[in-house]
Amino acid sequence: MSSSADHVDAAARSANPFDPSVAADPVPFYRALRDDAPVALLMGMPGTHVLSRYDDVRFALQHPEIFSSEVRSLDIGQERPLIPMQVDPPDHVKYRRVIDPHLAPREVAPRAEGIRWLVNHLIDGFIERGRCDLHAELSVPYPATVFLDLCGMPQADVDTYLGWKDDIVRPQLRHPELAGDRAALTATRHRAGAEMYDFFSGLIADRRASPGDDVFSRFLAGTVDGEAMTDEQLLDIGYLFILGGLDTVTSTLDCSLAHLARDPELRARLAADPSAIPVVVEEMLRLHTPLMQVLRVVKEPVELAGVAMAPGDHVMVMLGAADTDPAEFGATAGEVDLDRTSNRHVAFGAGPHRCLGSHLARVELRIAFEEVFRRLPDFELDESPDEPLELVYSPGIREVAALPVRFTPGPVEGTGG
Ligand code: HEM
Repeated sequence: MSSSADHVDAAARSANPFDPSVAADPVPFYRALRDDAPVALLMGMPGTHVLSRYDDVRFALQHPEIFSSEVRSLDIGQERPLIPMQVDPPDHVKYRRVIDPHLAPREVAPRAEGIRWLVNHLIDGFIERGRCDLHAELSVPYPATVFLDLCGMPQADVDTYLGWKDDIVRPQLRHPELAGDRAALTATRHRAGAEMYDFFSGLIADRRASPGDDVFSRFLAGTVDGEAMTDEQLLDIGYLFILGGLDTVTSTLDCSLAHLARDPELRARLAADPSAIPVVVEEMLRLHTPLMQVLRVVKEPVELAGVAMAPGDHVMVMLGAADTDPAEFGATAGEVDLDRTSNRHVAFGAGPHRCLGSHLARVELRIAFEEVFRRLPDFELDESPDEPLELVYSPGIREVAALPVRFTPGPVEGTGG
């Protein structure tokens, strides 16, 4: 059987992170990259380098003056740079000052009770069956509902938002008939993007007319360079929020629950001692690094691991490879280690663009694990020994297409509401 490591060509110093086998089992790919081609070229894309060693990755993330986020070639259906992700310092910090306070720990903490209610409500929907698809019935609706509530967006339209997000992030999976047709996939992204812009224009006009307590109403009150933000600036934040807010927690839950469904020893340990859950959340983020890479463009000549990079070159910063680097995480870098004393993972990035949703994401993940382990501690993949399940992961942001599990049925708790 082929391994994801086969997608690193040491002789040509090139790599293909987009093969489906890499998303399904990236650790051997990451190891081959770090060991054999620490600064590789993206296969078929001259001028795009792939960084994989922890120190190089951290260096790139922390030096935006060399590795810029203003990557104009990144086409995810947007009309203008996304704020704040595609804005470099010094302007970048002006936006973070407006956005960050509304996703700070003190804003997130009071939401914990409602978040716990929601997880239990979703578990109530399948607990009596003894079987479910954890992807479709928990990982997707749970973070989407939390996020829409935060933004004051109508829950009834959740499928529309999820459709836009999927058309932008992974159009080839939503429309397999378009696979390989780059022009058609780009058109799909732009169609979804245009609908999102329309939607947010309406939302912003609405909030200007009658502000509420949601994050968009609060952004309206924020200023950049002493001025209120324009509709365009608010749209460029909203676009990124949908992508960041709807996809990443789903991917982390998918990767983590799939891992746990195959690791009875770790499951038993967590069911017996839920106090280990926060440590496991960090280990899952590190080991599975659901957002496998971020993109930068070189602004000043630079050399890493003996490879020269020139202004205009693109750089794929492989967060997942850094997060499994033994040079930082020791001999247990490729496995879950509950006794790890330091866990400086980069699953949320590092440097100025470090994820501003990380507090919310961590609360969502911890509460989901607590309730899953309380109510279905023996969940396991719904497979038979003769027919093991092959989970299908999407590349780039590692979501599974489906996560069928079985468990001892339990009672509905009727969490009120
Ligand atoms: C486990 C879940 C999450 C993961 C793994 C994750 C990962 C990341 C990473 C790696 C970056 C850095 C991008 C870069 O350096 O180019 C980032 C940035 C960002 N994330 Fe998250 N994220 C998560 C959840 C969220 C949530 C829930 C939100 C929104 C509520 C969010 C909003 C953002 C935004 C707006 C940025 C851009 C920050 C900037 O450029 O300054 N993320 N995220």
